[in-house]
Amino acid sequence: MGLYNGRKPNGAENMKNIMPKIIFTMTAMTLILGASALKAQTPARNVWSGVFTSDQAAQGKTVFEAKCVTCHGAEMTGGEMAPALAGQMFVSNWSGQSLGDLFTRIHTTMPANDPGSLNNAEVAQVVAYILSFNQVPAGATPLPSDEAALGQIAITEKK
Ligand code: HEC
Repeated sequence: MGLYNGRKPNGAENMKNIMPKIIFTMTAMTLILGASALKAQTPARNVWSGVFTSDQAAQGKTVFEAKCVTCHGAEMTGGEMAPALAGQMFVSNWSGQSLGDLFTRIHTTMPANDPGSLNNAEVAQVVAYILSFNQVPAGATPLPSDEAALGQIAITEKK
C-alpha cells in the first residue's frame, strides 16, 4: 500500500484522462470523413449554371480544330478513329462525373497522338468548346483551369 502513497495507480488515472480524448477524436474523424464523402457526391454546381464564357469556347474551337478535329470530327460525331464528343451518348457517358474528371482525361490522354501536349488553359478552353457544342449555355465567369476547382462542377444531363 505504501507503494502508491495514497494516490490512485497511474494506469487507471491515464485511462480516465485519455478515454474522452479518444472518443472526441473518433467523433471528429467520423464527421470529417462524412463531410468529404458528401462533398465528393455532390459538387457545389453543375455545368448548366453558366460555368464558361463564350470567348473561352471560341478559343477552344481554335484548339479543337488544330488538335482534335482529325479524329473526333468537326461536328464531334467521332468516327472510325474516335468516339463522339457531342450528343446523348457522350453526355450520358460523363453524367455523374465532374468537369475535373473530363479535364484530367483530356489533359493526360488527348490528343491521342500527342498526349499531354496541351497546357491547362488550352484544356479548359477545349472543355468549354465541347460544352458549348453540347448546348450548354455560356455565362459570365470563365471556366477555371485547375482540376480541384473543376472537380466542384458536376456534369449532369439537362433536366
Ligand atoms: C489521333 C486521334 C485523336 C486525336 C487527335 C484526339 N483524340 Fe480524343 N480520343 C481518341 C480515341 C481513339 C479515343 C477513345 C480511346 C481512348 O480513350 O484513347 C478518344 C477519346 C476521347 C475522349 C473520351 C470520350 C469518352 O466519352 O470517353 C475525350 C473527351 C477526347 N478524346 C477528347 C479529345 C480532345 C479534346 C482532343 C484534342 C485536344 C482529342 N481528343 C484528340 C482519338 C483522338
